[in-house]
Amino acid sequence: MTVAAVDTTYDRFSTDPAYVAANEGFVNGLPLGRVTRILDLCGGTGAVGKLLLAAAPEASLYQIDLDPVQIGLAAQNYTRLGYAVRTLDAPDPGYAPVSRGVTLQVGSATDLPFHEGTFDFVNIANAIHLIGAKDELVGAISRVLRPGGMFSFSSGFYAGCWPPLTQQVYYEWTKDAMTWIARLSAEQVAAGGPAIKRQRIKSQLSSVAFQNRWLTPAEWRALLGSHGLEVQQLVERPVLFDQNSLAAIGSYSGLAEAQLGGYPEGIASQALAATAASALESAGVPSVQHNWLEACAIKRSN
Ligand SMILES: C[S@@+](CC[C@H](N)C(=O)[O-])C[C@H]1O[C@@H](n2cnc3c(N)ncnc32)[C@H](O)[C@@H]1O
Repeated sequence: MTVAAVDTTYDRFSTDPAYVAANEGFVNGLPLGRVTRILDLCGGTGAVGKLLLAAAPEASLYQIDLDPVQIGLAAQNYTRLGYAVRTLDAPDPGYAPVSRGVTLQVGSATDLPFHEGTFDFVNIANAIHLIGAKDELVGAISRVLRPGGMFSFSSGFYAGCWPPLTQQVYYEWTKDAMTWIARLSAEQVAAGGPAIKRQRIKSQLSSVAFQNRWLTPAEWRALLGSHGLEVQQLVERPVLFDQNSLAAIGSYSGLAEAQLGGYPEGIASQALAATAASALESAGVPSVQHNWLEACAIKRSN
């Protein structure tokens, strides 16, 4: 068994067919035709932002992401698509949108020092569960939206995202991946190398994404409403992950950290990717269902 270099960014999963189809379904349901100023929070590689721009032919887009690696990938992707891209390493409070321009900024989704009403659409796809201070986040989003502007989010992590059988698949997957790492470690030791050790760590990401209490759809509706955002749509989308989708998710360092925190990140990711098929087989299913929550709300005018 050899350990190849693995990509532990979000890049691989961002092109997974099940993920792409879920994102397309989400974006297609949004009334974006007349939107001109988009703020895409936690935009990653631009996988959803590019769909938003395609659906809003007059729009410019300002994307914020904490991770400079994702911002770099987004810059490549948007440039390849023909957009004029500029990259910032701090917020631009006086942001003046340029039609069809893309501004990429390294920073936190919770730091929004823009003028009130700067944007007519704010989106956060596949990431709102990563933010602990949801009340502050939604308040800040509402402030930078113009009256009548729209906020949308999609998230695969909320109370209700995992149908009952899912737990069994994830349990089998973690078990198989740990067996895979133990075998690799034994091979390394037999060849005179060091054993692979699991460190005791306090994981930053998993404490936010997985130890936060996930909100129910009803709680999301109430939270949005308390910040003047009137929910127009709140729907759950079932998505089926086959072994290829699971392997792609496994290569995302966030999942490796959450499921196998303390192991070297690259090895944990590769173990998850290598054992996705056997996890489904052990659970006796060809795919596993995961539900996404999709919300769209309008900022009240008064
Ligand atoms: C699962 S990816 C989603 C990317 C993209 N929105 C999409 O749907 O493809 C989550 C992204 O959120 C970013 N992120 C996590 N916490 C953040 C925060 N507090 N502020 C800004 N970005 C954050 C990560 O760096 C990562 O790129």
